[in-house]
Parts: sequence; structure tokens; C-alpha cells
Amino acid sequence: MTNYSSAIIEKYAVNAPRYTSYPTAPHFSDGVGQEDYRCWLQAIEPGAGVSLYIHIPFCDRLCWFCGCHTKHTLKYQPVLDYLEVVYKEIRLVGDIIGKNALISQLHLGGGSPSMLMPEDLRKLKHCLQSNFQFSEDAEISIELDPSDLDENMLSGFGEFGMNRASIGVQDFSEEVQKAINRPQSFEDTRSVVNGLREIGINSLNIDALYGLPLQTLSGLRNTLEQVVSLSPDRIAMFGYAHVPWMKKHQQMIDEASIPGLDARFSQARQAEELLTEAGYQQIGIDHFALPEDSLARALQERTLKRNFQGYTTDNSQFLIGLGASSIGKTPQGFVQNTPATLSYTRQVENGELPISRGICISPVDNLRSAVIEQLMCYFEIDFQWLEENFSQTGTAETDKIHDIARKLVAGNEDGYFIETKDGYVITRQGRPFARQFAAHFDEYLNHGSARYSIAV
Ligand SMILES: C[S@@+](CC[C@H](N)C(=O)[O-])C[C@H]1O[C@@H](n2cnc3c(N)ncnc32)[C@H](O)[C@@H]1O
Ligand code: SF4
Repeated sequence: MTNYSSAIIEKYAVNAPRYTSYPTAPHFSDGVGQEDYRCWLQAIEPGAGVSLYIHIPFCDRLCWFCGCHTKHTLKYQPVLDYLEVVYKEIRLVGDIIGKNALISQLHLGGGSPSMLMPEDLRKLKHCLQSNFQFSEDAEISIELDPSDLDENMLSGFGEFGMNRASIGVQDFSEEVQKAINRPQSFEDTRSVVNGLREIGINSLNIDALYGLPLQTLSGLRNTLEQVVSLSPDRIAMFGYAHVPWMKKHQQMIDEASIPGLDARFSQARQAEELLTEAGYQQIGIDHFALPEDSLARALQERTLKRNFQGYTTDNSQFLIGLGASSIGKTPQGFVQNTPATLSYTRQVENGELPISRGICISPVDNLRSAVIEQLMCYFEIDFQWLEENFSQTGTAETDKIHDIARKLVAGNEDGYFIETKDGYVITRQGRPFARQFAAHFDEYLNHGSARYSIAV
């Protein structure tokens, strides 16, 4: 299936960031705080497009593979208490930006925001509408754990105005599900997909994983055939990130059952083959979309972006993160809300923007970020585009990018990174290693002690 030798796979199997931002989150520090963020929010121009992200860090089950910031709870009261704090945070931010800004995207992520009962979604919507102005065609999306959704909950999503949903599948094989503590039948998933479509939520994404414990090529094939039979518009195919030093519950996974490098790599290539044969277009390193989907169109029109949700069509300059651990971005920098729910609550109750850390973005960061985003989205660096858009950064900085790229071309004996008349390209064969190539342009990588997941 693949013509990559074990030696090649091993050579590129280094740990590297996924570059959902640049600079990446481990380089945020407490040098940026709520006063900086307040000024950045005040600078938002009237009418500017803003995206909102709301984090719900609760789940009614705990899957052992999970790398998300969440907490297991069988009671609903902690969720209700948390929502009260989120409402206060919405009012704090609303008081600063007023109704000047136009919300063009709203994403509810987690955890499992699908735990929210219809009456609470109603309250959340009321609070959002009282404090922000939404554009008529705003994209409103939610991450769903489909395991325990009934009609009442689905109608709550419809009433909220959701027009996109992302459904977690991971893998349908029973053995794999046991090994990751995530039972979920195909039938239940299909009925959620049908239920969403019945209430008009037609734009659907499904998340699947490779590299999970006990996963095999044939099991993954079955899962993907079942996924494709549901005709989602998008499929995200992530490699399982095993980071037990950060996520203690991953220690429940028997490491001996995790596929080795070669097996994991073959699973990823098989997924690409199957999904492209099924009519999906590959988007960047881990997404697939039907040709008529807006993500596929964005790739064609070169408006594709990368953000904390992966690949996106969202081109607003402002992202406001609400809820514990959420990340926000303005042209001046990134900020992250305090992850621990108790401290986050304390800050909001004190009337503070609950920022714990962040980073200012310099013009050089912007240039590097654009280079890395081009590599992650288009597998190339278009030098003319860079020079046109970053002339103010100075030729010394673009020359540095040239130097790094030329050294990379010269040092890459596999011929995966090449120079062309327009710039530099990661060849088709080299695409599985895009994260490693992007990492060469990351100025922060050698500072600090951050540990990343494996990049193949
Ligand atoms: C924030 S989770 C929410 C999904 C939802 N709660 C569910 O369980 O269906 C979003 C996605 O992140 C991915 N994910 C979670 N942990 C991961 C890990 N350790 N490695 C790779 N992807 C992971 C999964 O594919 C999951 O569907
Ligand atoms: S995968 Fe989803 S349901 Fe499972 S623990 Fe993570 S966020 Fe919760």
C-alpha cells in the first residue's frame, strides 16, 4: 500500500507540534494578562467579524484515549454551575466589545457540549444575543458525543440555531472500543446523523482516529466504510496522540496494544486511499471533504486557514475564547483562559477577564506563521505571495526563510522538500511529514521544554 521503508518512517517519526497556531500554546507565558487582552478587545473596530469559541469541559463518560481538556461527571449540577460563570464571562467581554463586532462563527467545543439540555442552550443563546450581535449567516457549530442523545436534545441543537455538527466516532470495532473505554454502535451513530439531518443540521463532520490500541488495517477499513456510508461532508482523520504524561487516564491504555510505527503509518495511508477513492478531497494533513463542501472550495480558492479546530474557512482576525482553557486571538496576540475550572471561576467572579497566559505576536511571528500555515494547508511556500504580503517585515527576514528552505532542500536526501520556480514544495510523497518540515521554520521550537505528540 505504501512505498515507504521502515527506515524512512522511523527517520521522520519525531515529535512535532500540530501547528494549529504559531507560536504554539506551550510558548504562551504569564507575561501577557487580562489588561493586555482588554486593550486588544477594545481595539476591535465596529463591524469587524469575530469568531466565538465556548469550551464546555465536561463529559458524562471518560474515554481513555481522550486528549481534550475535560472532566468526567455523572451529575449535571457542575455543568449548570459552570454555565453560570460562562454567562458572567460573556457579559464581561460583551461590556468591552459591545455590539460593535459582528459574530460570524460560534463553535461549542469540549468535552461534550452535547451534554447541554435544551433549556440551558436556550439560556446560553439568550445571553449571547443580549451581549453580542450575530451576522445573519453566522456559522454555528457543536461537537457531539453521539452516545446518549435523544430527540429532545437534538431539537435543542436545532432551536439554538446550529447549522454544523461534528460527531465523534473514533472507531467502530468492538475490541478497539473496549480498549479505549468508548462503546458506541454504528446504529446509534446513524440515528444521530439522521436525526440531525431531519432537523436541518445538514453540514456534518465525523472524527475518526488511526493508531488506536488494537486497531488493524481491516478494522479501520470497516470503520471508514461505515463512516462513508453516512455521507458526512467532512471527515477528520487524526492520529491517536498518546501523551500519558499530560493525560493520566491514557495510562489505562495498554501500551503494548498500540500499533507500532509502521502499522500506524500504513493505517494513515490506507485511510487516505479509501477516503479519496470514496470521493473525498484531502485537505491538509488530516481532513477530508466532499468537493462541494466549503473546506474543499477554500482549498481551491486558497482561502483555507488553520486554527485550533484544525482546518477552517474562518478568516476573521478575531477569535474570542470563552470558558476554562479557551484560546483567543487578535492581531496583537494570543491569550489562554485559565484551564482549572475553580481558578477560572474565581477570576470571573472577581470581575476579571480569566486570562492565565498568552503571547504577543511580532511581525516576524506573522511571517513565520504564514510560512507554516502555507506548508500545513498547501504543502508549499509561495515566495511571491510572501514577498507581496510581508514586505514590511524586511528582506532580512524573508532571506532567513529562504536560507532555512534551501538548507532543507539540500539536506533532504529523500527529495521530499524541493525548490521550484515559485518557491518550495513538499512533494506528494513527503506530505505525511509536513509537520516535521514546518517545524524547521518554528523559531521557538528549541526554547522551553514542551513535549509534543509523534508527527506521523
Ligand atoms: C474535543 S473531542 C470532542 C468529541 C466528543 N466529546 C466525542 O467524544 O465525540 C474532539 C475530537 O478530538 C479527537 N481526539 C481526542 N483525543 C485525542 C487524542 N488523544 N489523539 C488524537 N485525537 C484525539 C477525537 O477524534 C475527538 O472526536
Ligand atoms: S472523547 Fe469526547 S466524550 Fe470521550 S472523554 Fe473526550 S471529550 Fe469526553
